[in-house]
Amino acid sequence: MKITVVGAGNVGATCADVLAYREVANEIVLLDIKEGIAEGKALDIWQKAPIDLYDSRTVGSTNDYSKTANSDVVVITSGLPRKPGMTRDDLIATNAGIVKAVTEQVIANSPNAIIIVVSNPLDVMTYVAHTVSKFPRLRVMGMAGILDTARYRAFLAEALNVSPKDIQALLMGGHGDTMVPLPRYTTVGGIPVTELIAKDKLDAIVQRTINGGGELVKLMGTSAWYAPGSAAAQMVEAIVKDQKRVVPVCVGLDGEYGIKDCYLGVPVILGKNGIEKIIEVDLNAEEKALMEVSRGKVREVMDVYDNMPK
Ligand code: NAI
Ligand code: 2OP
Repeated sequence: MKITVVGAGNVGATCADVLAYREVANEIVLLDIKEGIAEGKALDIWQKAPIDLYDSRTVGSTNDYSKTANSDVVVITSGLPRKPGMTRDDLIATNAGIVKAVTEQVIANSPNAIIIVVSNPLDVMTYVAHTVSKFPRLRVMGMAGILDTARYRAFLAEALNVSPKDIQALLMGGHGDTMVPLPRYTTVGGIPVTELIAKDKLDAIVQRTINGGGELVKLMGTSAWYAPGSAAAQMVEAIVKDQKRVVPVCVGLDGEYGIKDCYLGVPVILGKNGIEKIIEVDLNAEEKALMEVSRGKVREVMDVYDNMPK
């Protein structure tokens, strides 16, 4: 198996490191436009192999896509991250150009790959990669739901003083202020979370989750990378090992949840073919209304992209 990670910055390098450490594939190519950075980080990860005892080979490339040829999965992390005061949507003009150019190179060299987009604004960058690649929609997806759900689970684990391993949760919608955490679909060791925590505390955790990316941007002056890199690696692993994981993933909806022509996070089964099934859970009126707000917000940014000179 061969994996390419485009963008050897904070998220891309972390993703490649996790993939190597977990021996998800025997060949991992890290590519960046900045001279030497991908080669350097790939070499550093490879030199960690004798210490951490893995044999996945990491190789770097400065914009030479021939090294990525015939990748099974490609993760796109190239693009600007947020600075304090910026929303994810502020990144659209620069990142759309980058994601478009990268996708063209990726598909020319790996026509059968499954593409995982990480660059922001996530839902719209998934749209860009999908339309540029013209791949079947279930082979182009965005990473956000696993990260946002992980933040929610981590906050809950802290509040309840339990292991994050025992918290199962679902979060849907766009990657931004309109994401839709679903306490009704959150359990702790099988127990509905609403039986274990007061409503006001749960509401505060939901709100902190929605602001989760912004909280880190404020602290660090740039956006997060450990959890995002691991989340993208988890998606790659589910595909490469055909694990049939049930996780929230951003995909172009075609009637699911009554939504068409919009890219949003929904629960899916991830396996060797990419998204193997989009799971449609029952949403109550309030949850449907939140999904509609999210759809409207993402659609607005998709329209910005549609109206940009190409
Ligand atoms: P970073 O600045 O550390 O790394 C980005 C890398 O992309 C840089 O090394 C840069 O040289 C490279 N790059 C730029 N143009 C390129 C091109 N045309 N071809 C190849 N490489 C190119 O940024 P970081 O923190 O790694 O974030 C990357 C992206 O991921 C940002 O857009 C950020 O907002 C997004 N992100 C998304 C998350 C999500 O949940 N979907 C979570 C965290 C970050
Ligand atoms: C995050 O949620 C900024 O999308 C990035 O950390």
